[in-house]
Amino acid sequence: MSDVTVRLTVNGQPREGRCEARKLLVDFLREDLGLTGTHVGCEHGICGACTILVNGEAARSCIMLAVQADGAELLTIEGLMRNGVLHPLQQAFHEHHGLQCGFCTPGMLMTALDLLRVKPDPSEADIREGLSAVLCRCTGYQGIINAVKAAAPVMRRG
Ligand code: FES
Ligand code: FES
Repeated sequence: MSDVTVRLTVNGQPREGRCEARKLLVDFLREDLGLTGTHVGCEHGICGACTILVNGEAARSCIMLAVQADGAELLTIEGLMRNGVLHPLQQAFHEHHGLQCGFCTPGMLMTALDLLRVKPDPSEADIREGLSAVLCRCTGYQGIINAVKAAAPVMRRG
């Protein structure tokens, strides 16, 4: 099968690569662009580990083809930290023990970012519902929920 060229913006930078038309976006990010922070779990849209933002909205990169993201703006976990400073969500996960093994963490952070975009002042029920899109096998979720609760006012202040 002949390769296709995919051009997109990732974390504010123009990026481009060539891959088979059937290549998954998550594999393109990891293998072609070297952005291995986005994790692959189930590969069929269930676990949420591969969640990134596509044109500002959370999307599972394991059920999208790279060619479908041609021309899109992507934000991955590598784009959260700015000038060596952790994003407020990353800082809150660190302070509130929102991770253990870290496998779910990139998808959890990107999902939380999207949740706080849609609901800047979420209730605990909102957070639980929003984060139910991502599976964590380690933490029991409470630390993650506490972290998102703590990050929300910091992000509202900008
Ligand atoms: S790896 Fe994409 S949802 Fe599980
Ligand atoms: S911290 Fe291990 S899966 Fe969530």
